[in-house]
Amino acid sequence: MPTVSKVDDTLLRCVGCGAVTAVADSGLNCANCGNLLEVVFPNADQMNLEAGSLKSLWRERRASNLPIDQSGVWRFREVLPSLDEAHPAITLREGNTPLYELSLCARIAGVDQLYAKHQGMNPTGSFKDTGMTVASSFARKDGFQWVACASTGNTSASMAAYAARGGMRSLVLIPDGKISWSKLSQALEYGAVTCQVRTDFDGCMQVLNDIVTRKPIYLLNSINPFRLEGQKTVAFELMEQSDWEPPDHIVVPGGNLGNSSALGKAVREMHELGLIKRLPKISVIQAEGANALVRTVREKGGKELVSVHADTMATAIRIGNPASWKKAVRVLEETGGTVEQVSEVEIALAKAEIGADGIGCEPASAVTLAGLKKLVKQGFVKQNESVVLVLTGHLLKDPDFTLKFHRGDLFEGTPYAKQAEIIATRQRAPIVLDANADAVIRVLEQAEKS
Ligand code: F0G
Repeated sequence: MPTVSKVDDTLLRCVGCGAVTAVADSGLNCANCGNLLEVVFPNADQMNLEAGSLKSLWRERRASNLPIDQSGVWRFREVLPSLDEAHPAITLREGNTPLYELSLCARIAGVDQLYAKHQGMNPTGSFKDTGMTVASSFARKDGFQWVACASTGNTSASMAAYAARGGMRSLVLIPDGKISWSKLSQALEYGAVTCQVRTDFDGCMQVLNDIVTRKPIYLLNSINPFRLEGQKTVAFELMEQSDWEPPDHIVVPGGNLGNSSALGKAVREMHELGLIKRLPKISVIQAEGANALVRTVREKGGKELVSVHADTMATAIRIGNPASWKKAVRVLEETGGTVEQVSEVEIALAKAEIGADGIGCEPASAVTLAGLKKLVKQGFVKQNESVVLVLTGHLLKDPDFTLKFHRGDLFEGTPYAKQAEIIATRQRAPIVLDANADAVIRVLEQAEKS
């Protein structure tokens, strides 16, 4: 069976007991204590990584036509595990995502400077592509013919695309029901063997953990440390776009907690390399119905995981047993960030507000704005501090959610129906009319008055 190999310049270190290993087993856990692994660069001191030279090198690569330079991930390859010439990267030119100013949302949240790093602008529509380009490239290098993931949608679409580009087969386990049809359609189109398993995301993960011990399949969930290396580059790109002046706060949604862990690792490494002078505070927002990290921090001081039975309409973060919780707690502690939870109605409203700024995102991404509003009210974020929201997925992921929101039936028959009155001001239901200009003009004149 192929193993998940060591690369020449990196090792894998356990986040629990600190044991260092060159080769991980198929489940990607520490052989000593079962905790997750992270990539470390033992020879970083000898690599001559000088901050000023790195900044110019990365800027110069933006003018290059080489696929590896056009990738917004591999452009930063000095801080990534390295491939060799015989095993090139599988790339869809991921990364390179815009940093948008959110002026309407800034006024709503009560801050002067608010930006969105829009990871939904990646090739398959989510931040997963930045990690997938790295981990899938290592899967191919290590000789795997099959890759697999459990997914609420985005990971599956991304993995299936990269596997197809890299000439590998892919296996997807998705929870039966409460998934996004647009994501499922992507996975099918890219040729994945897709199983809708009668369980939730956490159940799919358990089944997959069993499968990878029995078949030579490379696991591509975010417990895979190479995925987080790729996801790290989002923060490098963000700092470059901000002329290496970090924002005061970065706010990110939390599901399985790989993304917050990756961003934290990135800012730690950038600080060590002298690329940035101070750490931004990284805060993690969850849905009230999938609030394992919030409870872990508030009830157990971050020492012990509180698992929950997850339920939220923000399907991407409907996860009750987050694998990377230890890594995420460390990020909160190191950067001085916090955790917060938001309700279903607050998520829906925030999503429409991000849409009204001409940007748009999927429900899971909108927890960031909903959470920010609370952090400002609590005084954790000050009006004059700069904030970046990481929008993790594209508006077109959940068209059903958006349509129901605007038609006014998103919360019909749910316990939230009463609270949902606050979303009315953002609703723009489609208007059905006869084919006649007078009728349309009457609608237009009505809209002019509102
Ligand atoms: N936002 C989006 C759009 C996601 O798809 C996910 C995770 C998250 C946030 C949470 O990120 O797990 O790193 O904390 N989606 C996974 C999937 C679970 O299967 O696509 P995390």
